[in-house]
Amino acid sequence: MERTSAGFPREAVADRLLTASVRTSYDPLVDLDWSAPPVPGAYWLPPRRSSLYGTPLWDGMTEEQRVELTKHEVAGAASAGLWFETILMQMLIRHYYDADPTSRHAQYALTEVADECRHSIMFGRLIEAIGTPVYRADPVDHLLGRWLKATATGPQMYAAILIAEEILDSFQREIMADESLQPLIRMVSRIHVVEEARHVRFARDELGRQVEAAGPVALGYARLVIGRAAYSITRRLVNPRAYAAVGIAPAVGLAAARANPHWRATLRWSAQRIAEHLTGLGLIAGPGRLLWRRSGLIEG
Ligand SMILES: [Fe+2]
Ligand SMILES: [Fe+2]
Repeated sequence: MERTSAGFPREAVADRLLTASVRTSYDPLVDLDWSAPPVPGAYWLPPRRSSLYGTPLWDGMTEEQRVELTKHEVAGAASAGLWFETILMQMLIRHYYDADPTSRHAQYALTEVADECRHSIMFGRLIEAIGTPVYRADPVDHLLGRWLKATATGPQMYAAILIAEEILDSFQREIMADESLQPLIRMVSRIHVVEEARHVRFARDELGRQVEAAGPVALGYARLVIGRAAYSITRRLVNPRAYAAVGIAPAVGLAAARANPHWRATLRWSAQRIAEHLTGLGLIAGPGRLLWRRSGLIEG
């Protein structure tokens, strides 16, 4: 039976999350109107969150091209979300394999997998509905994802989950509250925010225990893997091929985004909560910290 020094509270947290899951869960196949046409002229992301906002490339685009770019950026984020959810589901199933199936903790892990199954269907339907390509991970990240989902346990597993979930969550909270945006993306974001709040609670709670239980060597290794995960997740947020949809060469768009102070500020804004949390746990330090800086999620 899997017990930690924290003992009962772990079960109490999982029990509360199971109750909340029964109360508020969505089925994207019935709760979303997939056939509603998009609202003409409405953005898919707040324009200031576009990776090219404020650049000469942005200034040179027509209004239609700007809207189109945010649509492809959203498709890139949904593709990255799908990719990471697939990794996450496998990590949770591996965790469950060793857990006590009668525990609320194990049962909540399965409930989270069930949520992610519905989310991945939702993101797949979103990409289909808006008619963009699926923006897949490049071969290196695809391989690293395969390795992470096959091996990650302990602090690096829960930290990687939190980085992906909390960065996406920052964007989605803003999208769901912005009435000027496309209704479909607002509702997709709302469903995801509501259900992910439980996942974040579960992972933050478990990460604290895992860090307490880990020795210094394991923590040193975890910091590196966490830094690399943060780097991959950030690089996957906007797929450079999205720029081709508005006639910008992917390499040119990518270089402009990386140099764009607005986009760099957006990245730091999106990661602020999780970076503070992981710093507080001592997980952003040493060589792994360099990867956080290179990914643009933290300064200095
Ligand atoms: Fe999800
Ligand atoms: Fe999640």
